[in-house]
Amino acid sequence: MNDLLIQNIKALVLPKKTDRPLKGKELDELEVIENGTVVVKDGKIVYSGKHTDEYEAKETIDATGKVVSPALVDAHTHLIHGGSREHEMTLKRQGVSYLEILEQGGGILSTVEATREATEDQLFEKAEHDLLTMIHHGVLAVESKSGYGLDKENELKQLRVSRRLQEKYNLDMRHTFLGPHAVPKEAESNAQFLQEMIDLLPEVKEYADFADIFCETGVFSIEESKRYMEAAQKEGFKVKIHADEIDPLGGLGLAIDEGAISADHLVASSDEDKKKLKDSDTVAVLLPGTTFYLGKESYADARGMLEQNGAIAIATDYNPGSCVTNNLQMVMAIAALKLKLSPNEIWNAVTVNAAKAIDVDAGTINEGDKANIVIWHAPNHEYIPYHYGINHAEKVIKDGKVIVDHQLQLS
Ligand code: NIG
Ligand code: FE
Repeated sequence: MNDLLIQNIKALVLPKKTDRPLKGKELDELEVIENGTVVVKDGKIVYSGKHTDEYEAKETIDATGKVVSPALVDAHTHLIHGGSREHEMTLKRQGVSYLEILEQGGGILSTVEATREATEDQLFEKAEHDLLTMIHHGVLAVESKSGYGLDKENELKQLRVSRRLQEKYNLDMRHTFLGPHAVPKEAESNAQFLQEMIDLLPEVKEYADFADIFCETGVFSIEESKRYMEAAQKEGFKVKIHADEIDPLGGLGLAIDEGAISADHLVASSDEDKKKLKDSDTVAVLLPGTTFYLGKESYADARGMLEQNGAIAIATDYNPGSCVTNNLQMVMAIAALKLKLSPNEIWNAVTVNAAKAIDVDAGTINEGDKANIVIWHAPNHEYIPYHYGINHAEKVIKDGKVIVDHQLQLS
């Protein structure tokens, strides 16, 4: 007997299962079935497709008028951090820029202080709440970075918290070592600090899947990023890079040359680097919520990247400074409005391609896949990036079990 039957689905969103990321025009191709059925047994999809009465199950959910999709994948977050930085909003109102705040010892460095001060349990509790919020918004696969410790003890503390969350909730999580996220106040020089982070790589390997670096003016240069990425690859890490977020240093080109699994931000990437996407499976992880929150006019050139046959994904970049939201649905709306992506492109970018960006088996609900599913209170799949700032996830189903149920009612 099957465990769960989801019947009368108004729109069943079925991203294509592939072994490489979707590229260019492929992102606009998305199967959306009107009047669909999904069948689950032992936590796995037995059937997903057009309506059928062939199956019986112990439990049936009537999804009349609803959208059903794979659970979302958030491929770039700074989930584990201490404190918050609402005081920076005043500085921003006064016109102080993100990099100026960092130069003055605020920004990332103020979160470093708060993270160092927090105990492991305090960090866990805070991140747990943020992670549960993400799950309530339909996300069941998450990448989580360190990068607010900037020393061995505190980087490992963050990564341990990330692992504990994965164990507690048995989630598809990937953990990223972002030791070179900023240069701490006590460092002698950038070069000395970078070397310290490179020397940490073998020890961090036990906790982290990826190694990441912030390549930006006043933080780490292209040469330093290359040195770090190559050292990390030698240690067996797949690499990622925060690239061209503010200044066009050439981080996208470097990522592609190094065969990085993803290059993230890419707001200021050059045309020459974007052209290289054509022959590469490096996923361009775009974070339009960050551009929005930093109040910038110019967004990453998603359309240009797709024209170059690039692979793109969309993620929140959830962090306490440059993008203070862990609601991926909100970022889907910003992607529609500011990156000019179509609903199909956005859905592929937060499911199958986001999964490729973090090397996780998620983002599709075809036969044999894990039954990680969201039932959305929405009449069609275009509605979710359209009606913004609201949580449309009504039920979140993990391994075939309903773990979130948001039937709105008052007590
Ligand atoms: O991806 N740009 C670097 N790192 C984060 C921001 C971190 C912070 O401001 O705390 C980002 O935007
Ligand atoms: Fe980031």
